[in-house]
Amino acid sequence: MENRAQWGSRVGFLLAAMGSAIGLGNIWRFPAVAYESGGGAFIVPYLFALLTAGIPILILEYTIGHKYRGSAPKSLGRVSKGFEWIGWWQVTIAFVISTYYSVIIAWAIMYSYYSINLTWGDDPTSFFVGDFLNLADPGVFGGFVPKILLPLLIVWVITLGVLSKGVKKGIEVANKIFIPTLVVLFLIIVIRAVTLEGAADGLSSFFTPDWSRIGDAEVWVAAYGQIFFSLSIAFAIMITYASYLPKKSDITNNAFITGFANSSFEVLAGIGVFAAVGFMAFTYNTSVTDLAAEKGVGGIGLAFMVFPEIVSQIPVLPGLFGFLFFASLVLAGLSSLISITETYVAAVSEKFNISRVKSVVFGGGLAALISLAYATRGGLNLLDTVDHFINNFGIALSGLFQVVALAWFARGLKSYQSHANSVSDIALGAWWRISLGVITPIVLGYMMLQNLNNRISEAYAGYPMDFLFNFGWLVAVGAIFVGALMSVKKWPNNELDVDEDDKEGLS
Ligand code: ALA
Repeated sequence: MENRAQWGSRVGFLLAAMGSAIGLGNIWRFPAVAYESGGGAFIVPYLFALLTAGIPILILEYTIGHKYRGSAPKSLGRVSKGFEWIGWWQVTIAFVISTYYSVIIAWAIMYSYYSINLTWGDDPTSFFVGDFLNLADPGVFGGFVPKILLPLLIVWVITLGVLSKGVKKGIEVANKIFIPTLVVLFLIIVIRAVTLEGAADGLSSFFTPDWSRIGDAEVWVAAYGQIFFSLSIAFAIMITYASYLPKKSDITNNAFITGFANSSFEVLAGIGVFAAVGFMAFTYNTSVTDLAAEKGVGGIGLAFMVFPEIVSQIPVLPGLFGFLFFASLVLAGLSSLISITETYVAAVSEKFNISRVKSVVFGGGLAALISLAYATRGGLNLLDTVDHFINNFGIALSGLFQVVALAWFARGLKSYQSHANSVSDIALGAWWRISLGVITPIVLGYMMLQNLNNRISEAYAGYPMDFLFNFGWLVAVGAIFVGALMSVKKWPNNELDVDEDDKEGLS
Protein backbone atom coordinates (compact mmCIF):
# COMPACT_ATOMS: atom_id res chain seq x y z
CA MET A 1 0.00 0.00 0.00
CA GLU A 2 1.32 3.45 -0.82
CA ASN A 3 2.55 5.54 1.99
CA ARG A 4 0.44 8.63 1.49
CA ALA A 5 0.61 11.65 3.79
CA GLN A 6 -2.44 12.05 6.03
CA TRP A 7 -4.18 14.71 8.06
CA GLY A 8 -3.61 14.34 11.79
CA SER A 9 -7.28 14.82 12.72
CA ARG A 10 -10.72 15.52 11.33
CA VAL A 11 -10.57 19.06 12.69
CA GLY A 12 -7.21 19.50 10.96
CA PHE A 13 -8.73 18.54 7.61
CA LEU A 14 -11.81 20.69 8.14
CA LEU A 15 -9.74 23.74 9.10
CA ALA A 16 -7.56 23.26 6.02
CA ALA A 17 -10.61 22.91 3.75
CA MET A 18 -12.26 25.95 5.33
CA GLY A 19 -8.96 27.81 5.09
CA SER A 20 -8.94 27.10 1.39
CA ALA A 21 -12.54 28.13 0.86
CA ILE A 22 -12.49 31.24 3.03
CA GLY A 23 -10.31 33.64 1.12
CA LEU A 24 -10.15 36.94 -0.68
CA GLY A 25 -13.29 35.89 -2.55
CA ASN A 26 -15.36 35.95 0.63
CA ILE A 27 -14.24 39.34 1.79
CA TRP A 28 -14.04 41.35 -1.37
CA ARG A 29 -16.16 39.52 -3.93
CA PHE A 30 -19.22 38.34 -2.04
CA PRO A 31 -20.48 41.63 -0.54
CA ALA A 32 -20.34 43.33 -3.93
CA VAL A 33 -21.78 40.44 -5.92
CA ALA A 34 -24.68 40.09 -3.47
CA TYR A 35 -25.37 43.83 -3.38
CA GLU A 36 -25.31 44.21 -7.15
CA SER A 37 -27.41 41.09 -7.71
CA GLY A 38 -30.54 41.97 -5.79
CA GLY A 39 -29.35 42.32 -2.15
CA GLY A 40 -31.49 40.11 0.08
CA ALA A 41 -33.10 38.53 -2.99
CA PHE A 42 -29.68 37.14 -3.96
CA ILE A 43 -30.22 34.53 -1.25
CA VAL A 44 -32.43 32.55 -3.64
CA PRO A 45 -29.96 32.03 -6.53
CA TYR A 46 -27.09 31.82 -4.04
CA LEU A 47 -28.67 29.02 -1.99
CA PHE A 48 -29.80 27.26 -5.15
CA ALA A 49 -26.24 27.36 -6.53
CA LEU A 50 -24.82 26.25 -3.17
CA LEU A 51 -27.19 23.30 -2.79
CA THR A 52 -27.32 22.10 -6.41
CA ALA A 53 -23.72 22.76 -7.45
CA GLY A 54 -21.45 23.95 -4.62
CA ILE A 55 -21.99 21.28 -1.99
CA PRO A 56 -22.74 18.43 -4.45
CA ILE A 57 -19.48 19.13 -6.34
CA LEU A 58 -17.62 19.43 -3.05
CA ILE A 59 -18.96 16.00 -2.02
CA LEU A 60 -17.98 14.65 -5.46
CA GLU A 61 -14.44 16.04 -5.18
CA TYR A 62 -14.01 14.78 -1.61
CA THR A 63 -15.20 11.36 -2.80
CA ILE A 64 -12.87 11.25 -5.80
CA GLY A 65 -9.88 12.34 -3.71
CA HIS A 66 -10.72 9.94 -0.89
CA LYS A 67 -11.45 6.97 -3.13
CA TYR A 68 -8.60 7.35 -5.62
CA ARG A 69 -5.98 8.82 -3.26
CA GLY A 70 -4.09 11.14 -5.55
CA SER A 71 -3.63 14.70 -6.69
CA ALA A 72 -6.36 15.87 -9.09
CA PRO A 73 -4.71 14.52 -12.30
CA LYS A 74 -3.87 11.23 -10.66
CA SER A 75 -7.30 10.74 -9.09
CA LEU A 76 -9.18 11.69 -12.25
CA GLY A 77 -6.73 9.58 -14.28
CA ARG A 78 -7.54 6.65 -12.03
CA VAL A 79 -11.23 7.07 -12.83
CA SER A 80 -10.30 6.95 -16.51
CA LYS A 81 -7.00 7.65 -18.27
CA GLY A 82 -8.99 9.91 -20.59
CA PHE A 83 -9.89 12.26 -17.72
CA GLU A 84 -6.37 12.93 -16.51
CA TRP A 85 -6.04 16.02 -18.65
CA ILE A 86 -9.00 17.64 -16.84
CA GLY A 87 -7.02 17.29 -13.62
CA TRP A 88 -3.96 18.93 -15.20
CA TRP A 89 -6.13 21.66 -16.67
CA GLN A 90 -7.44 22.43 -13.18
CA VAL A 91 -3.94 22.29 -11.74
CA THR A 92 -2.81 24.76 -14.42
CA ILE A 93 -5.72 27.05 -13.54
CA ALA A 94 -4.65 26.88 -9.89
CA PHE A 95 -1.08 27.68 -10.94
CA VAL A 96 -2.21 30.77 -12.83
CA ILE A 97 -4.41 31.92 -9.95
CA SER A 98 -1.56 31.52 -7.46
CA THR A 99 0.60 33.90 -9.50
CA TYR A 100 -1.73 36.86 -8.94
CA TYR A 101 -3.47 35.83 -5.70
CA SER A 102 -0.05 36.09 -4.02
CA VAL A 103 0.32 39.68 -5.21
CA ILE A 104 -2.97 40.80 -3.66
CA ILE A 105 -1.84 39.32 -0.35
CA ALA A 106 1.42 41.27 -0.76
CA TRP A 107 -0.58 44.50 -1.18
CA ALA A 108 -2.59 43.63 1.93
CA ILE A 109 0.66 43.17 3.91
CA MET A 110 1.78 46.65 2.87
CA TYR A 111 -1.62 48.08 3.73
CA SER A 112 -1.56 46.47 7.20
CA TYR A 113 1.62 48.44 7.71
CA TYR A 114 0.21 51.63 6.14
CA SER A 115 -2.80 51.39 8.48
CA ILE A 116 -0.65 52.23 11.48
CA ASN A 117 -0.06 55.82 10.29
CA LEU A 118 -2.93 56.02 7.78
CA THR A 119 -0.22 56.55 5.17
CA TRP A 120 -2.78 56.81 2.35
CA GLY A 121 -3.67 60.36 3.50
CA ASP A 122 -6.79 62.24 2.35
CA ASP A 123 -7.21 60.60 -1.03
CA PRO A 124 -6.74 56.82 -0.74
CA THR A 125 -7.79 56.22 -4.36
CA SER A 126 -5.07 58.31 -5.88
CA PHE A 127 -2.66 56.99 -3.27
CA PHE A 128 -3.39 53.39 -4.34
CA VAL A 129 -3.26 53.97 -8.08
CA GLY A 130 -0.55 56.61 -8.07
CA ASP A 131 1.79 56.52 -5.07
CA PHE A 132 1.44 52.80 -4.37
CA LEU A 133 1.02 51.01 -7.71
CA ASN A 134 2.36 53.77 -9.95
CA LEU A 135 -0.08 52.30 -12.47
CA ALA A 136 0.85 52.32 -16.16
CA ASP A 137 -1.58 52.23 -19.11
CA PRO A 138 -3.05 48.84 -20.08
CA GLY A 139 -0.54 46.85 -22.10
CA VAL A 140 2.45 48.72 -20.67
CA PHE A 141 4.42 46.87 -18.01
CA GLY A 142 6.82 49.57 -16.89
CA GLY A 143 9.42 48.67 -14.28
CA PHE A 144 9.03 46.80 -11.00
CA VAL A 145 7.33 48.49 -8.07
CA PRO A 146 9.87 47.93 -5.27
CA LYS A 147 7.26 48.37 -2.50
CA ILE A 148 5.50 45.21 -3.66
CA LEU A 149 8.59 43.06 -4.11
CA LEU A 150 9.47 42.63 -0.44
CA PRO A 151 5.97 41.66 0.78
CA LEU A 152 5.63 39.37 -2.24
CA LEU A 153 8.82 37.64 -1.21
CA ILE A 154 7.41 37.24 2.32
CA VAL A 155 4.18 35.71 0.92
CA TRP A 156 6.08 33.11 -1.06
CA VAL A 157 8.53 32.31 1.73
CA ILE A 158 5.62 31.60 4.11
CA THR A 159 3.59 29.62 1.54
CA LEU A 160 6.43 27.51 0.25
CA GLY A 161 7.88 27.11 3.75
CA VAL A 162 4.56 25.71 5.00
CA LEU A 163 4.18 23.41 1.99
CA SER A 164 7.68 22.04 2.26
CA LYS A 165 6.87 20.85 5.79
CA GLY A 166 4.17 18.57 4.44
CA VAL A 167 0.49 17.95 5.02
CA LYS A 168 0.31 17.38 8.76
CA LYS A 169 3.24 19.44 10.02
CA GLY A 170 2.88 22.20 7.45
CA ILE A 171 -0.61 22.75 6.00
CA GLU A 172 -2.54 21.46 9.01
CA VAL A 173 -0.51 23.37 11.59
CA ALA A 174 -0.66 26.62 9.58
CA ASN A 175 -4.43 26.43 9.25
CA LYS A 176 -4.87 25.61 12.91
CA ILE A 177 -3.17 28.92 13.63
CA PHE A 178 -4.53 31.04 10.75
CA ILE A 179 -8.22 30.17 10.79
CA PRO A 180 -9.08 30.68 14.48
CA THR A 181 -7.02 33.90 14.45
CA LEU A 182 -8.85 35.06 11.33
CA VAL A 183 -12.26 34.41 12.88
CA VAL A 184 -11.35 36.36 16.03
CA LEU A 185 -9.90 39.32 14.09
CA PHE A 186 -12.83 39.42 11.73
CA LEU A 187 -15.40 39.26 14.52
CA ILE A 188 -13.74 42.27 16.15
CA ILE A 189 -14.01 44.15 12.84
CA VAL A 190 -17.67 43.25 12.37
CA ILE A 191 -18.61 44.17 15.94
CA ARG A 192 -16.84 47.51 15.55
CA ALA A 193 -18.43 48.10 12.15
CA VAL A 194 -22.01 47.44 13.26
CA THR A 195 -21.62 49.81 16.19
CA LEU A 196 -20.62 52.72 13.95
CA GLU A 197 -23.16 55.42 13.18
CA GLY A 198 -25.06 54.76 9.96
CA ALA A 199 -24.33 51.02 10.07
CA ALA A 200 -28.06 50.18 10.11
CA ASP A 201 -28.58 52.00 6.80
CA GLY A 202 -25.73 50.07 5.24
CA LEU A 203 -27.14 46.77 6.42
CA SER A 204 -30.61 47.59 5.26
CA SER A 205 -29.27 48.42 1.75
CA PHE A 206 -27.41 45.13 1.76
CA PHE A 207 -30.30 42.96 2.93
CA THR A 208 -33.30 44.67 1.34
CA PRO A 209 -34.41 42.31 -1.42
CA ASP A 210 -34.88 43.56 -4.94
CA TRP A 211 -37.05 40.73 -6.22
CA SER A 212 -37.14 42.18 -9.72
CA ARG A 213 -33.59 40.87 -10.24
CA ILE A 214 -34.53 37.23 -9.63
CA GLY A 215 -35.56 36.67 -13.24
CA ASP A 216 -32.29 38.10 -14.53
CA ALA A 217 -30.00 35.36 -15.95
CA GLU A 218 -26.91 37.39 -15.03
CA VAL A 219 -27.80 37.17 -11.36
CA TRP A 220 -27.86 33.37 -11.55
CA VAL A 221 -24.58 33.31 -13.44
CA ALA A 222 -23.09 35.56 -10.74
CA ALA A 223 -24.32 33.21 -8.00
CA TYR A 224 -22.73 30.16 -9.63
CA GLY A 225 -19.49 32.02 -10.34
CA GLN A 226 -19.27 33.17 -6.73
CA ILE A 227 -19.93 29.68 -5.36
CA PHE A 228 -17.23 28.07 -7.53
CA PHE A 229 -14.49 30.53 -6.68
CA SER A 230 -15.45 30.84 -3.07
CA LEU A 231 -15.78 27.12 -2.31
CA SER A 232 -12.49 26.37 -4.11
CA ILE A 233 -14.22 23.82 -6.32
CA ALA A 234 -13.12 22.84 -9.84
CA PHE A 235 -9.60 23.98 -9.28
CA ALA A 236 -8.05 20.75 -8.12
CA ILE A 237 -7.83 21.78 -4.49
CA MET A 238 -10.52 19.74 -2.79
CA ILE A 239 -9.61 16.51 -4.61
CA THR A 240 -6.02 16.97 -3.44
CA TYR A 241 -6.96 17.79 0.15
CA ALA A 242 -9.41 14.85 0.36
CA SER A 243 -6.72 12.48 -0.91
CA TYR A 244 -4.96 12.94 2.45
CA LEU A 245 -7.99 11.76 4.44
CA PRO A 246 -7.64 8.49 6.31
CA LYS A 247 -9.84 5.65 5.00
CA LYS A 248 -12.44 5.96 7.70
CA SER A 249 -13.33 9.61 7.21
CA ASP A 250 -16.68 11.23 6.84
CA ILE A 251 -17.23 12.83 3.43
CA THR A 252 -20.75 14.22 3.18
CA ASN A 253 -20.98 15.79 6.60
CA ASN A 254 -17.53 17.32 6.13
CA ALA A 255 -18.65 18.84 2.84
CA PHE A 256 -21.73 20.40 4.45
CA ILE A 257 -19.63 21.77 7.30
CA THR A 258 -17.11 23.27 4.87
CA GLY A 259 -19.84 24.74 2.66
CA PHE A 260 -21.85 26.29 5.47
CA ALA A 261 -18.77 27.63 7.26
CA ASN A 262 -17.69 29.31 4.03
CA SER A 263 -21.12 30.82 3.41
CA SER A 264 -21.39 32.01 7.01
CA PHE A 265 -18.09 33.80 6.63
CA GLU A 266 -19.35 35.38 3.42
CA VAL A 267 -22.46 36.73 5.07
CA LEU A 268 -20.34 37.95 7.99
CA ALA A 269 -18.09 39.78 5.52
CA GLY A 270 -21.15 41.30 3.85
CA ILE A 271 -22.35 42.56 7.23
CA GLY A 272 -18.96 44.01 8.13
CA VAL A 273 -18.42 45.68 4.77
CA PHE A 274 -21.92 47.16 4.44
CA ALA A 275 -22.05 48.35 8.04
CA ALA A 276 -18.81 50.21 7.28
CA VAL A 277 -20.17 51.54 3.98
CA GLY A 278 -23.27 52.75 5.85
CA PHE A 279 -20.99 54.62 8.25
CA MET A 280 -19.18 56.20 5.31
CA ALA A 281 -22.48 57.31 3.76
CA PHE A 282 -23.46 58.80 7.12
CA THR A 283 -20.18 60.73 7.36
CA TYR A 284 -20.57 62.10 3.82
CA ASN A 285 -24.24 62.81 4.40
CA THR A 286 -25.28 60.79 1.40
CA SER A 287 -27.19 57.56 0.77
CA VAL A 288 -25.60 54.11 0.60
CA THR A 289 -26.99 53.66 -2.92
CA ASP A 290 -25.36 56.85 -4.19
CA LEU A 291 -22.12 56.11 -2.41
CA ALA A 292 -21.97 52.56 -3.78
CA ALA A 293 -22.70 53.83 -7.29
CA GLU A 294 -20.03 56.49 -7.03
CA LYS A 295 -17.24 54.55 -5.36
CA GLY A 296 -18.02 50.93 -6.20
CA VAL A 297 -18.20 48.43 -3.38
CA GLY A 298 -16.43 45.41 -4.77
CA GLY A 299 -13.12 43.93 -5.69
CA ILE A 300 -9.83 45.68 -5.46
CA GLY A 301 -11.51 49.07 -5.28
CA LEU A 302 -13.39 48.14 -2.14
CA ALA A 303 -10.42 46.76 -0.27
CA PHE A 304 -7.73 49.20 -1.27
CA MET A 305 -9.59 52.42 -2.06
CA VAL A 306 -12.95 52.55 -0.23
CA PHE A 307 -11.87 50.74 2.93
CA PRO A 308 -8.85 52.97 3.64
CA GLU A 309 -11.19 55.95 3.27
CA ILE A 310 -13.57 54.41 5.81
CA VAL A 311 -10.68 53.59 8.16
CA SER A 312 -9.54 57.21 8.17
CA GLN A 313 -12.99 58.33 9.34
CA ILE A 314 -13.25 55.94 12.30
CA PRO A 315 -13.39 58.08 15.45
CA VAL A 316 -11.32 55.94 17.84
CA LEU A 317 -8.19 53.95 16.98
CA PRO A 318 -8.67 54.01 13.19
CA GLY A 319 -5.24 52.48 12.62
CA LEU A 320 -6.14 49.41 14.65
CA PHE A 321 -9.36 48.90 12.67
CA GLY A 322 -7.43 49.18 9.41
CA PHE A 323 -4.72 46.86 10.62
CA LEU A 324 -7.25 44.20 11.65
CA PHE A 325 -9.00 44.41 8.28
CA PHE A 326 -5.85 44.04 6.20
CA ALA A 327 -4.40 41.41 8.53
CA SER A 328 -7.63 39.43 7.99
CA LEU A 329 -7.15 39.68 4.25
CA VAL A 330 -3.58 38.42 4.66
CA LEU A 331 -4.62 35.43 6.79
CA ALA A 332 -7.63 34.51 4.63
CA GLY A 333 -5.47 34.90 1.52
CA LEU A 334 -2.50 32.89 2.80
CA SER A 335 -4.57 29.88 3.85
CA SER A 336 -6.16 29.83 0.39
CA LEU A 337 -2.88 30.38 -1.44
CA ILE A 338 -1.36 27.43 0.43
CA SER A 339 -4.16 25.18 -0.89
CA ILE A 340 -3.95 26.56 -4.43
CA THR A 341 -0.19 25.95 -4.53
CA GLU A 342 -0.51 22.49 -2.99
CA THR A 343 -2.43 21.34 -6.08
CA TYR A 344 0.61 21.58 -8.33
CA VAL A 345 3.14 20.69 -5.66
CA ALA A 346 1.31 17.36 -5.17
CA ALA A 347 0.68 16.74 -8.87
CA VAL A 348 4.24 17.50 -10.03
CA SER A 349 5.79 15.47 -7.24
CA GLU A 350 3.64 12.45 -8.12
CA LYS A 351 4.00 12.65 -11.88
CA PHE A 352 7.75 13.30 -11.98
CA ASN A 353 8.47 11.09 -8.99
CA ILE A 354 10.34 13.81 -7.12
CA SER A 355 10.25 14.72 -3.44
CA ARG A 356 7.75 17.25 -2.05
CA VAL A 357 10.57 19.70 -1.31
CA LYS A 358 11.88 19.54 -4.89
CA SER A 359 8.36 20.02 -6.20
CA VAL A 360 7.89 23.03 -3.90
CA VAL A 361 11.15 24.53 -5.17
CA PHE A 362 10.41 23.97 -8.90
CA GLY A 363 6.64 24.48 -8.98
CA GLY A 364 6.40 27.15 -6.30
CA GLY A 365 9.60 28.78 -7.52
CA LEU A 366 8.23 29.12 -11.05
CA ALA A 367 4.94 30.56 -9.78
CA ALA A 368 6.83 33.03 -7.60
CA LEU A 369 8.93 34.09 -10.59
CA ILE A 370 5.88 34.63 -12.80
CA SER A 371 4.12 36.53 -10.02
CA LEU A 372 6.77 39.23 -10.45
CA ALA A 373 4.94 40.29 -13.63
CA TYR A 374 2.11 41.59 -11.42
CA ALA A 375 4.58 43.51 -9.30
CA THR A 376 5.25 45.84 -12.22
CA ARG A 377 3.56 49.17 -12.94
CA GLY A 378 1.12 47.43 -15.27
CA GLY A 379 0.40 44.69 -12.73
CA LEU A 380 -3.15 45.70 -11.82
CA ASN A 381 -4.43 45.65 -15.42
CA LEU A 382 -2.77 42.31 -16.00
CA LEU A 383 -4.22 40.89 -12.79
CA ASP A 384 -7.72 42.12 -13.58
CA THR A 385 -7.64 40.57 -17.06
CA VAL A 386 -6.12 37.22 -16.14
CA ASP A 387 -8.49 36.91 -13.16
CA HIS A 388 -11.58 37.60 -15.28
CA PHE A 389 -10.73 35.12 -18.01
CA ILE A 390 -9.38 32.32 -15.83
CA ASN A 391 -12.51 32.51 -13.65
CA ASN A 392 -15.06 32.63 -16.43
CA PHE A 393 -13.39 30.36 -18.93
CA GLY A 394 -11.25 28.30 -16.57
CA ILE A 395 -12.87 27.34 -13.30
CA ALA A 396 -16.48 27.25 -14.45
CA LEU A 397 -15.66 25.50 -17.74
CA SER A 398 -13.41 22.90 -16.15
CA GLY A 399 -16.15 22.34 -13.55
CA LEU A 400 -18.55 21.61 -16.39
CA PHE A 401 -16.10 19.17 -18.02
CA GLN A 402 -15.41 17.46 -14.72
CA VAL A 403 -19.07 16.94 -13.90
CA VAL A 404 -19.95 15.76 -17.41
CA ALA A 405 -16.96 13.40 -17.48
CA LEU A 406 -17.78 11.80 -14.13
CA ALA A 407 -21.56 11.80 -14.37
CA TRP A 408 -22.18 11.18 -18.06
CA PHE A 409 -19.10 9.47 -19.48
CA ALA A 410 -17.89 7.43 -16.49
CA ARG A 411 -21.50 7.00 -15.31
CA GLY A 412 -19.97 6.92 -11.86
CA LEU A 413 -22.46 8.80 -9.70
CA LYS A 414 -24.08 5.70 -8.20
CA SER A 415 -20.76 4.17 -7.22
CA TYR A 416 -19.45 7.49 -5.80
CA GLN A 417 -22.69 7.82 -3.89
CA SER A 418 -22.29 4.42 -2.28
CA HIS A 419 -18.64 5.17 -1.53
CA ALA A 420 -19.57 8.42 0.22
CA ASN A 421 -22.46 6.75 2.04
CA SER A 422 -20.25 3.93 3.27
CA VAL A 423 -18.17 6.36 5.33
CA SER A 424 -20.52 9.30 6.04
CA ASP A 425 -23.09 10.14 8.71
CA ILE A 426 -25.46 11.69 6.18
CA ALA A 427 -26.72 9.39 3.41
CA LEU A 428 -26.79 10.91 -0.06
CA GLY A 429 -30.06 10.61 -1.93
CA ALA A 430 -31.23 11.04 -5.50
CA TRP A 431 -31.08 14.86 -5.14
CA TRP A 432 -27.30 14.56 -5.29
CA ARG A 433 -27.29 12.62 -8.55
CA ILE A 434 -29.93 14.88 -10.10
CA SER A 435 -28.00 18.01 -9.07
CA LEU A 436 -24.79 16.74 -10.63
CA GLY A 437 -26.14 14.79 -13.56
CA VAL A 438 -28.81 17.23 -14.71
CA ILE A 439 -29.03 20.64 -13.04
CA THR A 440 -25.35 21.54 -12.82
CA PRO A 441 -24.45 20.64 -16.43
CA ILE A 442 -27.45 22.60 -17.77
CA VAL A 443 -26.79 25.69 -15.68
CA LEU A 444 -23.03 25.64 -16.28
CA GLY A 445 -23.52 25.05 -20.00
CA TYR A 446 -25.86 28.01 -20.16
CA MET A 447 -23.45 30.07 -18.09
CA MET A 448 -20.63 29.35 -20.54
CA LEU A 449 -22.68 30.49 -23.52
CA GLN A 450 -23.69 33.62 -21.65
CA ASN A 451 -20.08 34.42 -20.68
CA LEU A 452 -18.88 33.78 -24.21
CA ASN A 453 -21.56 35.99 -25.65
CA ASN A 454 -20.66 38.82 -23.23
CA ARG A 455 -17.00 38.65 -24.09
CA ILE A 456 -17.49 38.47 -27.84
CA SER A 457 -19.92 41.36 -27.92
CA GLU A 458 -17.86 43.67 -25.74
CA ALA A 459 -14.17 44.02 -24.80
CA TYR A 460 -13.70 43.25 -21.10
CA ALA A 461 -13.38 46.48 -19.07
CA GLY A 462 -12.55 48.35 -22.27
CA TYR A 463 -8.99 47.01 -22.41
CA PRO A 464 -7.23 46.94 -25.83
CA MET A 465 -8.05 43.87 -27.91
CA ASP A 466 -4.47 42.61 -28.28
CA PHE A 467 -3.97 42.90 -24.54
CA LEU A 468 -7.12 40.86 -23.88
CA PHE A 469 -6.07 38.32 -26.47
CA ASN A 470 -2.59 37.80 -25.03
CA PHE A 471 -3.41 37.80 -21.35
CA GLY A 472 -7.04 36.76 -21.32
CA TRP A 473 -7.91 34.33 -24.09
CA LEU A 474 -4.42 32.92 -24.52
CA VAL A 475 -4.05 32.21 -20.80
CA ALA A 476 -7.49 30.57 -20.51
CA VAL A 477 -7.12 28.48 -23.67
CA GLY A 478 -3.42 27.85 -22.95
CA ALA A 479 -4.39 26.19 -19.65
CA ILE A 480 -6.35 23.57 -21.61
CA PHE A 481 -3.35 22.85 -23.85
CA VAL A 482 -0.96 22.62 -20.93
CA GLY A 483 -3.44 20.22 -19.31
CA ALA A 484 -3.54 18.02 -22.38
CA LEU A 485 0.25 18.12 -22.77
CA MET A 486 0.94 17.12 -19.17
CA SER A 487 -1.29 14.08 -19.48
CA VAL A 488 0.81 12.68 -22.34
CA LYS A 489 3.75 11.81 -20.10
CA LYS A 490 3.58 8.39 -18.47
CA TRP A 491 3.22 7.98 -14.68
CA PRO A 492 6.07 6.35 -12.79
CA ASN A 493 5.40 2.71 -11.80
CA ASN A 494 1.93 2.52 -13.38
CA GLU A 495 0.65 4.73 -10.62
CA LEU A 496 -2.74 5.14 -12.20
CA ASP A 497 -3.70 1.73 -10.91
CA VAL A 498 -5.07 1.91 -7.40
CA ASP A 499 -3.31 -0.54 -5.09
CA GLU A 500 -5.33 -3.70 -4.62
CA ASP A 501 -5.00 -3.09 -0.92
CA ASP A 502 -6.63 0.32 -1.27
CA LYS A 503 -9.43 -0.93 -3.41
CA GLU A 504 -10.72 -3.26 -0.77
CA GLY A 505 -13.69 -1.81 0.98
CA LEU A 506 -13.35 1.38 -0.97
CA SER A 507 -15.37 0.93 -4.08
N1 ALA B 1 -11.77 30.07 -2.23
C1 ALA B 1 -10.77 31.05 -2.25
C2 ALA B 1 -11.32 32.42 -2.15
O1 ALA B 1 -12.49 32.61 -1.89
C3 ALA B 1 -9.91 30.89 -3.45
O2 ALA B 1 -10.63 33.36 -2.28
